[in-house]
Amino acid sequence: MSKKESYQTARGTRDILPKDQPYFQMIRHTSECVLQSLGIQRIDLPTFENAEVFTRGIGKDTDIVSKEMYLISKRGDDIKDPTYALRPEGTASAVRAYIENGMGSMPQPVKMYYVGPMYRHDRPQKGRYREFYQVGVEIFGDRSSKADYLSIMSAWKILSDLGLKNIIVYTNSIGCPACRPKYIKKLKSYYKKNLNKLCSDCRVRYEENPLRLLDCKEDGCKKLAKSAPLIIDNICDECKDHFQSTLELLDYFEIRYDLDPYLVRGLDYYSRTVFEFAAKSDKERQNSIGGGGRYDELVELLGGAKTPAVGFSLGIDRVVELMREQKIKPTPIRGVEVCILQLGEKAKEVSKKVYEMLSKHNTNVYFVPTNDGLRTQMRHAVKTGAKYALIIGQKEALKDEVILRNLNASSQETFFVKDILEEIQKRIEKDKC
Ligand code: HAM
Repeated sequence: MSKKESYQTARGTRDILPKDQPYFQMIRHTSECVLQSLGIQRIDLPTFENAEVFTRGIGKDTDIVSKEMYLISKRGDDIKDPTYALRPEGTASAVRAYIENGMGSMPQPVKMYYVGPMYRHDRPQKGRYREFYQVGVEIFGDRSSKADYLSIMSAWKILSDLGLKNIIVYTNSIGCPACRPKYIKKLKSYYKKNLNKLCSDCRVRYEENPLRLLDCKEDGCKKLAKSAPLIIDNICDECKDHFQSTLELLDYFEIRYDLDPYLVRGLDYYSRTVFEFAAKSDKERQNSIGGGGRYDELVELLGGAKTPAVGFSLGIDRVVELMREQKIKPTPIRGVEVCILQLGEKAKEVSKKVYEMLSKHNTNVYFVPTNDGLRTQMRHAVKTGAKYALIIGQKEALKDEVILRNLNASSQETFFVKDILEEIQKRIEKDKC
């Protein structure tokens, strides 16, 4: 006898069940409304790309690329020689798309957003998945601080339109290729004397990515970072002016930010402004709900013309968790609003007329003509979740009438067919209040 197999989702992935969909739908819908109202257009990017887009784009020594990338090979190829990678983020792909589609010759800035799943092979824990969802924005071709502001503001507006409270933007400037190398030298000479006090990861960072020494979460490293020279005190005048004018715009529009001199971000492509969004209660910022920054060198690095750029991504899964923590109720999904029940041939004819009239006018109406009795049709109507049923029997059909029944209250009234659209819409509108 063969044993019945049962399967589970792969570690770090999960089903987003119908009961959770209202949250996801509300975040996607709010994001799209906000971003489109700001003139940002949607782009859909592939979920897998040539692995090099990410290795070069994000940086081969970053955790995301060196430890967390899902590599895939072409069918039949040797997995030891992978060609593609599941996208761990959207920025490098957006840059590839900007170059490949000749967007550099379009009127600048080019402003795009994307929504979809990302993949990182990290250790799963609360708020950290191997398959997670982001909404992200990338703005190309504007080197002014207006674009930094627009990035921060659009994420801020999404979060506040969702009703989230106590959100803070943490921000810093990590300088540019003109001033950062001098700072890195200074930083390394500070850490050189303290190498033995660093955790093993940081000893590698010292060689490969010294900026990240500043945001290690290990206690010993955190203590050392406290006395390290700060990048914000070592950036050039142009970077200082750029950061200053970004902050002035945030002040003017009353966006709450904190300066975080240790914020460096985990991706290599950033220059100048970097930022992260978190709830004020998440002091350690274990689960930042979003992050981004400027990346003026990335387009050139991936083979395009020198193009300034800035953007951000919000982690949808973490926004959902925060909405739950803050007890924010998502807008319910509309579902079926009205069911039509009918008895007899003439009633079928009138029902079709009513069905077409309602569905043409943006009412969610369910109608499948059957020969079932009224009781069976009623049971079915209740199961659809509709609040209203329209009942048309032979008698009503002959008089061009319809019975409107409230399935929750079990009350009913008769109307002329010509008046039913207005009556139904009035009731549905009233139910929303
Ligand atoms: P990131 O900071 O790596 O930046 O990710 C952005 C957000 O995605 C995080 O703040 C977090 O909310 C969410 N996130 C990241 N990893 C996970 C995970 N394993 N599970 C659940 N949520 C996660 C970027 O991805 C950059 N591409 C942002 C950007 C756009 N910079 C410029 N433009």
